[in-house]
Amino acid sequence: MTNGSWWAVTLSESVNGTRPLAVVCNGQELVVYRDAAGKLFALEDRCPHRRVPLSLGTVKPGGLQCGYHGWTFDGATGACLEIPNLHADERVPVRYGARAFRVAERDGFVHVWLGEGSPDGELPAVASQPGGREFTGSAIVSISFDGYLGVMLDGPECLLGFDGVRITDFFLGDPRVEGTHLVLDRGAVWKTAMLPPAFVTDHPLIVRTAVPLAGGMIRVDLLDADETQVVSIWIAASANRRGTTGICWRGFRYGNALRAAPLRWRVARAAGRAPFALFDKIDGAAIAALLVAPSRNLAAARAEHAAPMDAAA
Ligand code: FES
Repeated sequence: MTNGSWWAVTLSESVNGTRPLAVVCNGQELVVYRDAAGKLFALEDRCPHRRVPLSLGTVKPGGLQCGYHGWTFDGATGACLEIPNLHADERVPVRYGARAFRVAERDGFVHVWLGEGSPDGELPAVASQPGGREFTGSAIVSISFDGYLGVMLDGPECLLGFDGVRITDFFLGDPRVEGTHLVLDRGAVWKTAMLPPAFVTDHPLIVRTAVPLAGGMIRVDLLDADETQVVSIWIAASANRRGTTGICWRGFRYGNALRAAPLRWRVARAAGRAPFALFDKIDGAAIAALLVAPSRNLAAARAEHAAPMDAAA
């Protein structure tokens, strides 16, 4: 899995100005915090003194102070700025320091550069700001990161659901690479609709899943038959500890009214309830039963996407 890209590690509002936040992204343990001016910093979540998590420390005016012996680290460089109780003739050794990471913020996500060298490429963007109602959340799910991406293509209904919508197995075309994502459309129907017993040929809805070729920002759209967006969800996903995957998301319900939407959908909309859910409990039996189909294209597409970057390095 590439590290050579920006990774969205958490939601902007999850990092407040009072407590440092521990996050795990692509296996890297990080502490993210803001100073009093709201500026973001990211350090390895490990004090170089005795390996205590820096996320247990305190945000100070000059940096992040470890909670154990009180060493303070500069958030931008990781350099140790202060060690309490030094004698007047002692100085902080210059080699003492925590590993610092480049951090940036865009469209409500905090992004960290986990690669070597200087960041390249654009920060992943939430491509449109629908202006509709927004819903956010986070979870850690008991499936590997690669497994999560694969299931998002092979059986997204195992990972998420739209209110009152049945996602079918019917692919509307082959998986295709669009920019930095592998994209697949599948048909969907309202659960209240009467269906032919075996085969659905008319899909009033489309579920479009776009899985990243680098980094970890997944996008899922619910579209009507004219491909007008109904709901869009941006999911930041990455490997957490012990084979799990951390996810956080921002989803938007667009302002358009769906003529054929069932009563349940309209009532939920009027009540301000989220029109979708990201599952934090994964049904292993359902995932094991999925055919490995569109996700077969993912590894090749990722390798092809990485090749030009490797050549340029
Ligand atoms: S373990 Fe952090 S200052 Fe000692």
